[in-house]
Amino acid sequence: MMRVIFIHADGKGRTEAEVQPGEILLDVAQQHLMPLEGTCEGQMACSTCHVIVESADFARLPTASEEEEDMLDLAAGARRTSRLACQILLTEELDGLTVHIPPESRNMQGQR
Ligand code: FES
Repeated sequence: MMRVIFIHADGKGRTEAEVQPGEILLDVAQQHLMPLEGTCEGQMACSTCHVIVESADFARLPTASEEEEDMLDLAAGARRTSRLACQILLTEELDGLTVHIPPESRNMQGQR
């Protein structure tokens, strides 16, 4: 059993999730009712699963693929430590991973 921590979009609230290694970060976020739509279900065709990884944790993640980087370029409010939650496989080394739900995560999808 390992843990990941979600910091809510308001920057204050936090949710700690217990996860099994092998789960995908996006699935865990949705199970804990974080507002990440994940519209394309992991196909890297949307950016609605965008999260901002805590800087101290960023280097622990495997590097993003070129496709992921391209998608992140389109994500609202993307930062240097942004990632797509659907691409993050939770391995034991990532215990304690902290990610921020971007404040902008809702806007883009509201305007379709
Ligand atoms: Fe669409 Fe992650 S769910 S890119």
